[in-house]
Amino acid sequence: MKVLVTGGAGFIGSSVVEALIEAGHETVVLDNLSVGRREYVHPQAIFLEADIGSAATALALETHRPDTVIHLAANIQVQKSLQYPMFDAANNINGTIHLLECCRNAGVRKIVYASSAAVYGEPQYLGIDEIHRTRPISFYGISKFTPEMYIRCYSELYGIEHTILRYSNVYGIRQSAEGEGGVISVFVDRMIRGERPVIYGDGLQTRDFVYVEDVARANLHALTSGDGETLNIGTGRPTNLLELYELAAGFCGFDKPPVFKPARAGDIAHSFFNFRRAREALGWNPRVSLEEGLSRTVEYARGKLTSQVAL
Ligand SMILES: NC(=O)c1ccc[n+]([C@@H]2O[C@H](COP(=O)([O-])OP(=O)(O)OC[C@H]3O[C@@H](n4cnc5c(N)ncnc54)[C@H](O)[C@@H]3O)[C@@H](O)[C@H]2O)c1
Repeated sequence: MKVLVTGGAGFIGSSVVEALIEAGHETVVLDNLSVGRREYVHPQAIFLEADIGSAATALALETHRPDTVIHLAANIQVQKSLQYPMFDAANNINGTIHLLECCRNAGVRKIVYASSAAVYGEPQYLGIDEIHRTRPISFYGISKFTPEMYIRCYSELYGIEHTILRYSNVYGIRQSAEGEGGVISVFVDRMIRGERPVIYGDGLQTRDFVYVEDVARANLHALTSGDGETLNIGTGRPTNLLELYELAAGFCGFDKPPVFKPARAGDIAHSFFNFRRAREALGWNPRVSLEEGLSRTVEYARGKLTSQVAL
Protein backbone atom coordinates (compact mmCIF):
# COMPACT_ATOMS: atom_id res chain seq x y z
CA MET A 1 0.00 0.00 0.00
CA LYS A 2 1.19 3.57 -0.59
CA VAL A 3 1.04 5.60 2.64
CA LEU A 4 1.85 9.25 3.28
CA VAL A 5 2.82 10.13 6.85
CA THR A 6 2.63 13.75 8.00
CA GLY A 7 4.98 14.46 10.90
CA GLY A 8 6.99 11.38 9.89
CA ALA A 9 10.28 12.99 10.97
CA GLY A 10 9.03 13.38 14.54
CA PHE A 11 9.15 11.14 17.58
CA ILE A 12 6.10 8.94 16.93
CA GLY A 13 6.03 9.49 13.16
CA SER A 14 9.54 8.13 12.65
CA SER A 15 8.54 4.87 14.39
CA VAL A 16 5.34 4.68 12.34
CA VAL A 17 7.43 5.08 9.17
CA GLU A 18 9.83 2.36 10.31
CA ALA A 19 6.92 -0.03 10.96
CA LEU A 20 5.37 0.76 7.56
CA ILE A 21 8.61 0.11 5.71
CA GLU A 22 9.27 -3.10 7.60
CA ALA A 23 5.77 -4.25 6.62
CA GLY A 24 6.59 -3.53 2.96
CA HIS A 25 4.52 -0.37 2.41
CA GLU A 26 5.66 2.33 0.03
CA THR A 27 6.06 5.31 2.36
CA VAL A 28 6.18 9.04 1.77
CA VAL A 29 7.02 11.38 4.65
CA LEU A 30 5.85 14.98 4.75
CA ASP A 31 7.28 17.11 7.54
CA ASN A 32 8.22 20.79 7.84
CA LEU A 33 11.11 19.90 10.20
CA SER A 34 9.93 22.51 12.72
CA VAL A 35 10.62 19.86 15.37
CA GLY A 36 11.35 16.66 13.47
CA ARG A 37 14.77 15.64 12.22
CA ARG A 38 15.70 14.54 8.72
CA GLU A 39 17.99 11.83 10.15
CA TYR A 40 15.06 10.22 11.97
CA VAL A 41 13.41 9.36 8.65
CA HIS A 42 13.97 5.82 7.43
CA PRO A 43 16.29 5.90 4.36
CA GLN A 44 13.81 3.89 2.27
CA ALA A 45 11.06 6.49 2.72
CA ILE A 46 10.58 9.34 0.25
CA PHE A 47 11.05 12.57 2.23
CA LEU A 48 9.33 15.86 1.39
CA GLU A 49 10.04 18.96 3.46
CA ALA A 50 6.71 20.77 3.46
CA ASP A 51 4.13 22.34 5.75
CA ILE A 52 0.70 20.65 5.83
CA GLY A 53 -0.83 24.09 5.25
CA SER A 54 1.20 24.83 2.13
CA ALA A 55 0.66 24.38 -1.61
CA ALA A 56 3.54 21.92 -1.56
CA THR A 57 1.29 19.49 0.32
CA ALA A 58 -1.37 19.68 -2.39
CA LEU A 59 1.32 18.97 -4.96
CA ALA A 60 2.74 16.10 -2.90
CA LEU A 61 -0.65 14.39 -2.68
CA GLU A 62 -1.39 14.97 -6.39
CA THR A 63 2.01 13.56 -7.33
CA HIS A 64 2.21 10.57 -5.00
CA ARG A 65 -1.52 9.74 -4.75
CA PRO A 66 -1.29 7.69 -1.55
CA ASP A 67 -4.02 5.21 -0.64
CA THR A 68 -3.88 6.26 3.04
CA VAL A 69 -2.63 9.30 4.94
CA ILE A 70 -1.46 8.90 8.55
CA HIS A 71 -1.68 12.37 10.03
CA LEU A 72 0.64 13.07 12.96
CA ALA A 73 1.96 16.55 12.14
CA ALA A 74 0.95 18.96 14.90
CA ASN A 75 2.18 21.38 17.48
CA ILE A 76 2.27 19.12 20.57
CA GLN A 77 3.27 21.65 23.20
CA VAL A 78 0.48 22.53 25.59
CA GLN A 79 2.31 25.61 26.95
CA LYS A 80 2.92 26.90 23.43
CA SER A 81 -0.79 26.44 22.68
CA LEU A 82 -1.60 28.60 25.73
CA GLN A 83 0.97 31.23 24.82
CA TYR A 84 0.25 31.30 21.08
CA PRO A 85 -3.32 30.02 20.60
CA MET A 86 -3.54 31.42 17.05
CA PHE A 87 -0.38 29.60 16.00
CA ASP A 88 -1.60 26.36 17.59
CA ALA A 89 -5.01 26.57 15.92
CA ALA A 90 -3.52 27.54 12.55
CA ASN A 91 -1.12 24.60 12.67
CA ASN A 92 -3.35 21.90 14.12
CA ILE A 93 -6.84 22.89 12.97
CA ASN A 94 -6.38 24.88 9.75
CA GLY A 95 -3.44 22.68 8.78
CA THR A 96 -5.64 19.59 9.08
CA ILE A 97 -8.47 21.16 7.10
CA HIS A 98 -6.01 22.00 4.33
CA LEU A 99 -4.66 18.46 4.41
CA LEU A 100 -8.22 17.06 4.21
CA GLU A 101 -8.95 19.22 1.17
CA CYS A 102 -5.76 17.91 -0.46
CA CYS A 103 -6.79 14.32 0.41
CA ARG A 104 -10.21 14.85 -1.13
CA ASN A 105 -8.75 16.28 -4.32
CA ALA A 106 -6.19 13.50 -4.62
CA GLY A 107 -8.75 10.70 -4.02
CA VAL A 108 -7.16 9.44 -0.79
CA ARG A 109 -9.11 6.41 0.50
CA LYS A 110 -8.42 6.73 4.23
CA ILE A 111 -7.01 9.03 6.89
CA VAL A 112 -5.66 7.80 10.24
CA TYR A 113 -5.45 10.66 12.73
CA ALA A 114 -3.23 10.95 15.82
CA SER A 115 -5.44 12.38 18.53
CA SER A 116 -4.80 12.62 22.24
CA ALA A 117 -6.01 11.99 25.79
CA ALA A 118 -6.06 15.81 25.98
CA VAL A 119 -9.48 15.79 24.25
CA TYR A 120 -11.07 14.35 27.43
CA GLY A 121 -9.87 17.03 29.86
CA GLU A 122 -10.35 16.31 33.57
CA PRO A 123 -11.27 12.59 33.87
CA GLN A 124 -14.74 11.90 35.25
CA TYR A 125 -13.83 8.24 35.79
CA LEU A 126 -10.96 5.83 35.13
CA GLY A 127 -10.05 3.95 32.81
CA ILE A 128 -11.25 6.49 30.40
CA ASP A 129 -13.15 4.99 27.47
CA GLU A 130 -14.21 6.57 24.18
CA ILE A 131 -17.67 7.58 25.45
CA HIS A 132 -16.13 9.64 28.24
CA ARG A 133 -17.11 13.29 27.78
CA THR A 134 -14.75 15.43 25.71
CA ARG A 135 -14.05 18.72 27.45
CA PRO A 136 -10.48 19.87 26.75
CA ILE A 137 -8.85 22.09 29.37
CA SER A 138 -6.14 23.51 27.09
CA PHE A 139 -6.05 25.06 23.63
CA TYR A 140 -3.95 22.07 22.58
CA GLY A 141 -6.83 19.78 23.63
CA ILE A 142 -9.19 21.87 21.50
CA SER A 143 -6.84 21.88 18.53
CA LYS A 144 -6.53 18.07 18.68
CA PHE A 145 -10.28 17.56 19.11
CA THR A 146 -11.57 19.93 16.41
CA PRO A 147 -9.83 18.04 13.57
CA GLU A 148 -11.59 14.85 14.76
CA MET A 149 -14.91 16.51 13.93
CA TYR A 150 -13.68 17.74 10.54
CA ILE A 151 -12.41 14.25 9.74
CA ARG A 152 -15.76 12.64 10.60
CA CYS A 153 -17.52 15.25 8.49
CA TYR A 154 -15.19 14.64 5.51
CA SER A 155 -16.02 10.95 5.86
CA GLU A 156 -19.75 11.62 5.84
CA LEU A 157 -19.66 14.15 3.03
CA TYR A 158 -17.00 12.76 0.73
CA GLY A 159 -16.59 9.12 1.71
CA ILE A 160 -12.98 9.35 2.91
CA GLU A 161 -12.59 6.51 5.42
CA HIS A 162 -11.05 7.35 8.79
CA THR A 163 -9.76 5.95 12.06
CA ILE A 164 -9.08 8.29 14.96
CA LEU A 165 -6.48 7.00 17.43
CA ARG A 166 -6.37 8.80 20.77
CA TYR A 167 -2.99 8.13 22.37
CA SER A 168 -2.27 8.22 26.09
CA ASN A 169 1.30 9.21 27.17
CA VAL A 170 3.62 7.89 24.49
CA TYR A 171 7.30 7.34 25.33
CA GLY A 172 10.35 5.71 23.82
CA ILE A 173 13.29 6.19 21.50
CA ARG A 174 13.73 9.52 19.68
CA GLN A 175 11.45 11.41 22.10
CA SER A 176 12.84 14.83 22.83
CA ALA A 177 13.78 15.70 26.40
CA GLU A 178 13.64 19.39 25.55
CA GLY A 179 10.77 21.80 26.00
CA GLU A 180 7.82 19.79 27.19
CA GLY A 181 9.28 16.39 26.27
CA GLY A 182 7.47 13.49 27.91
CA VAL A 183 8.24 12.88 31.58
CA ILE A 184 10.08 9.63 30.77
CA SER A 185 12.46 11.21 28.27
CA VAL A 186 13.12 14.06 30.72
CA PHE A 187 13.74 11.71 33.69
CA VAL A 188 16.05 9.48 31.65
CA ASP A 189 17.94 12.40 30.11
CA ARG A 190 18.62 13.98 33.52
CA MET A 191 19.53 10.69 35.19
CA ILE A 192 22.08 9.60 32.60
CA ARG A 193 23.70 13.05 32.94
CA GLY A 194 23.84 12.56 36.73
CA GLU A 195 21.32 15.36 37.36
CA ARG A 196 18.33 15.08 39.72
CA PRO A 197 14.99 15.22 37.86
CA VAL A 198 12.16 17.42 39.14
CA ILE A 199 8.80 16.02 40.25
CA TYR A 200 5.98 18.56 40.48
CA GLY A 201 3.62 17.76 43.35
CA ASP A 202 3.84 14.64 45.54
CA GLY A 203 4.65 12.25 42.69
CA LEU A 204 1.52 10.20 43.30
CA GLN A 205 -0.14 11.42 40.10
CA THR A 206 -0.65 8.56 37.63
CA ARG A 207 -0.35 8.27 33.85
CA ASP A 208 -0.79 5.55 31.26
CA PHE A 209 2.57 5.15 29.48
CA VAL A 210 2.45 3.39 26.11
CA TYR A 211 5.59 2.48 24.19
CA VAL A 212 6.07 4.13 20.79
CA GLU A 213 6.48 0.83 18.92
CA ASP A 214 3.04 -0.29 20.16
CA VAL A 215 1.56 3.00 18.95
CA ALA A 216 3.23 2.50 15.56
CA ARG A 217 1.70 -0.99 15.37
CA ALA A 218 -1.77 0.41 16.11
CA ASN A 219 -1.34 2.71 13.10
CA LEU A 220 -0.34 -0.24 10.96
CA HIS A 221 -3.50 -2.13 12.01
CA ALA A 222 -5.59 0.94 11.21
CA LEU A 223 -4.56 0.77 7.54
CA THR A 224 -6.88 -2.17 7.06
CA SER A 225 -9.27 -2.11 10.03
CA GLY A 226 -11.11 0.18 12.42
CA ASP A 227 -12.93 2.18 9.71
CA GLY A 228 -15.15 4.89 11.19
CA GLU A 229 -13.84 4.21 14.70
CA THR A 230 -12.42 6.45 17.43
CA LEU A 231 -10.11 4.36 19.60
CA ASN A 232 -8.05 4.80 22.75
CA ILE A 233 -4.46 3.62 22.42
CA GLY A 234 -2.94 3.02 25.84
CA THR A 235 -2.06 0.19 28.21
CA GLY A 236 -4.78 0.48 30.87
CA ARG A 237 -1.97 0.42 33.46
CA PRO A 238 -1.65 3.43 35.76
CA THR A 239 1.87 4.25 36.94
CA ASN A 240 2.62 7.00 39.43
CA LEU A 241 5.64 9.23 39.02
CA LEU A 242 7.40 7.87 42.10
CA GLU A 243 7.16 4.32 40.74
CA LEU A 244 8.34 5.56 37.38
CA TYR A 245 11.24 7.41 38.99
CA GLU A 246 12.36 4.30 40.82
CA LEU A 247 12.17 2.12 37.71
CA ALA A 248 14.01 4.66 35.55
CA ALA A 249 16.66 5.18 38.25
CA GLY A 250 17.22 1.41 38.34
CA PHE A 251 17.84 1.24 34.58
CA CYS A 252 20.03 4.35 34.65
CA GLY A 253 22.04 3.28 37.72
CA PHE A 254 21.03 6.56 39.39
CA ASP A 255 20.75 6.75 43.18
CA LYS A 256 19.78 10.34 44.03
CA PRO A 257 16.27 11.43 45.11
CA PRO A 258 14.11 13.70 42.92
CA VAL A 259 13.80 17.44 43.47
CA PHE A 260 10.21 18.10 44.54
CA LYS A 261 8.53 21.34 43.38
CA PRO A 262 4.94 22.55 43.91
CA ALA A 263 2.27 20.98 41.69
CA ARG A 264 1.62 22.92 38.49
CA ALA A 265 -1.78 24.48 37.85
CA GLY A 266 -3.83 22.50 35.36
CA ASP A 267 -2.00 19.19 35.92
CA ILE A 268 -4.41 16.25 35.96
CA ALA A 269 -4.04 13.99 39.02
CA HIS A 270 -4.87 10.60 37.54
CA SER A 271 -5.36 9.32 34.03
CA PHE A 272 -5.40 5.96 32.35
CA PHE A 273 -7.24 4.44 29.42
CA ASN A 274 -9.57 1.57 28.77
CA PHE A 275 -8.45 0.27 25.34
CA ARG A 276 -10.98 -2.56 24.91
CA ARG A 277 -12.43 -0.99 21.78
CA ALA A 278 -9.03 -0.84 20.06
CA ARG A 279 -8.54 -4.50 20.87
CA GLU A 280 -11.89 -5.36 19.29
CA ALA A 281 -11.71 -3.07 16.27
CA LEU A 282 -8.02 -3.40 15.42
CA GLY A 283 -7.05 -6.68 17.04
CA TRP A 284 -4.41 -4.57 18.81
CA ASN A 285 -2.87 -5.05 22.24
CA PRO A 286 0.10 -3.24 23.76
CA ARG A 287 3.03 -5.67 23.88
CA VAL A 288 5.94 -3.76 25.37
CA SER A 289 5.91 -3.62 29.18
CA LEU A 290 6.96 -0.42 30.94
CA GLU A 291 10.10 -2.20 32.16
CA GLU A 292 11.06 -3.33 28.64
CA GLY A 293 10.22 0.05 27.10
CA LEU A 294 12.20 1.90 29.75
CA SER A 295 15.19 -0.34 29.24
CA ARG A 296 15.14 0.37 25.46
CA THR A 297 14.68 4.09 26.06
CA VAL A 298 17.62 4.25 28.46
CA GLU A 299 19.85 2.29 26.07
CA TYR A 300 18.93 4.66 23.23
CA ALA A 301 19.52 7.78 25.36
CA ARG A 302 22.90 6.46 26.51
CA GLY A 303 23.96 5.79 22.92
CA LYS A 304 22.92 9.32 21.93
CA LEU A 305 24.80 10.88 24.84
CA THR A 306 27.93 8.90 24.03
CA SER A 307 27.86 10.00 20.39
CA GLN A 308 27.36 13.65 21.48
CA VAL A 309 30.33 13.43 23.82
CA ALA A 310 32.45 11.86 21.06
CA LEU A 311 31.79 14.82 18.72
N1 LIG B 1 3.88 12.26 22.37
C1 LIG B 1 2.73 11.93 22.96
O1 LIG B 1 2.71 11.44 24.11
C2 LIG B 1 1.42 12.11 22.23
C3 LIG B 1 0.23 11.80 22.92
C4 LIG B 1 -0.98 11.97 22.26
C5 LIG B 1 -1.02 12.40 20.95
N2 LIG B 1 0.14 12.71 20.29
C6 LIG B 1 0.04 13.18 18.90
O2 LIG B 1 0.92 12.41 18.09
C7 LIG B 1 1.43 13.22 17.03
C8 LIG B 1 2.95 13.14 16.97
O3 LIG B 1 3.48 13.62 18.18
P1 LIG B 1 5.03 13.49 18.58
O4 LIG B 1 5.09 13.29 20.03
O5 LIG B 1 5.70 12.55 17.65
O6 LIG B 1 5.51 14.98 18.31
P2 LIG B 1 6.73 15.55 17.43
O7 LIG B 1 6.75 17.02 17.67
O8 LIG B 1 7.97 14.77 17.67
O9 LIG B 1 6.22 15.25 15.97
C9 LIG B 1 5.42 16.13 15.22
C10 LIG B 1 6.05 16.29 13.86
O10 LIG B 1 5.21 17.10 13.04
C11 LIG B 1 6.02 18.07 12.37
N3 LIG B 1 5.13 19.21 12.12
C12 LIG B 1 4.58 20.04 13.06
N4 LIG B 1 3.80 20.94 12.45
C13 LIG B 1 3.87 20.68 11.11
C14 LIG B 1 3.26 21.27 9.95
N5 LIG B 1 2.47 22.33 10.05
N6 LIG B 1 3.55 20.74 8.74
C15 LIG B 1 4.38 19.67 8.63
N7 LIG B 1 4.97 19.07 9.67
C16 LIG B 1 4.70 19.57 10.89
C17 LIG B 1 7.19 18.35 13.30
O11 LIG B 1 8.34 18.81 12.61
C18 LIG B 1 7.41 16.97 13.91
O12 LIG B 1 8.34 16.20 13.15
C19 LIG B 1 0.89 14.63 17.28
O13 LIG B 1 -0.23 14.83 16.46
C20 LIG B 1 0.49 14.62 18.74
O14 LIG B 1 -0.56 15.53 19.01
C21 LIG B 1 1.35 12.58 20.91
